Amino acid sequence: MSPTQTIMDLAYDLAGIALGQGKQAMVEARLGKRLRQLGCDLRDYAQRVTKDPAEQVVMLDLLTTNHTAWLREPAHFDDLERRVLPALVAKRAKEPHPKLRIWCAAAATGEEPWTIAMTLVRSLPDLERWDVAVLATDISTRALTRAEAGLYSEDRVSALSAQDRQIALTVAERTVPKVYSVAPGLRRLVHFARLNLMEDWPMRGPFEVIFCRNVMIYFDRDTQQRLVTRMISLLAPGGTLYVGHAESLSSITHGLTPIIPAAYVR
Ligand SMILES: C[S@@+](CC[C@H](N)C(=O)[O-])C[C@H]1O[C@@H](n2cnc3c(N)ncnc32)[C@H](O)[C@@H]1O
Repeated sequence: MSPTQTIMDLAYDLAGIALGQGKQAMVEARLGKRLRQLGCDLRDYAQRVTKDPAEQVVMLDLLTTNHTAWLREPAHFDDLERRVLPALVAKRAKEPHPKLRIWCAAAATGEEPWTIAMTLVRSLPDLERWDVAVLATDISTRALTRAEAGLYSEDRVSALSAQDRQIALTVAERTVPKVYSVAPGLRRLVHFARLNLMEDWPMRGPFEVIFCRNVMIYFDRDTQQRLVTRMISLLAPGGTLYVGHAESLSSITHGLTPIIPAAYVR
């Protein structure tokens, strides 16, 4: 077997990432710098990474695609603001400290969980009364480091209105372009952790909302089915699962009710 194939098989076994034949050149390109750092060729690397769990973390950092954006696929944040949160507010009106748990299952470099937090700050006027937490997880340690740092240059936040920027950001560096830092009010709400969706999950739920967007495209159908079944078991009755718009659950058995494109209610 070619060393590239060994590495692709390992990415599948460890992380469920199905890299087809057309991805060989991409795999080799993404690992190129690492091979130079280690001073080895692909064959040595394939042998080493198979036996070395720490190197597997590095390899998965390099092979994952962490593309994301603030307010990506904005209909889901509108739905959170206009349907999900008002219903929860009405249902929990009498509770002194209503609990609200949201899981962002492929948080990448943080724009998605920070957008969720921004939506909460904007839409829950008595936020202090709520016991709110957004759990933001990803397999990529490199992406999570950037997510937690919460620093974004001007071009990365261009989708945000002036009002959203006031809620979500403070100016960190008055350079050109400016660099923004996520505001403390959002930072209080989000907790980051490394989690491989293919491994055991420490959390027990229930979550009122799960965002699992634009990660299932990397998985084959059986892996998607197992993942969706596990996520549903952590979703509160009446809770909402958001997936990416390119990831319809049409070939998956789930028993959820579709509510808007790529959003499903338990
Ligand atoms: C394209 S990004 C999507 C980011 C965000 N959810 C969005 O929609 O903008 C896909 C993310 O899934 C993560 N990922 C891939 N396989 C994973 C796995 N097995 N467990 C957890 N995260 C994984 C990658 O590290 C990457 O950050």
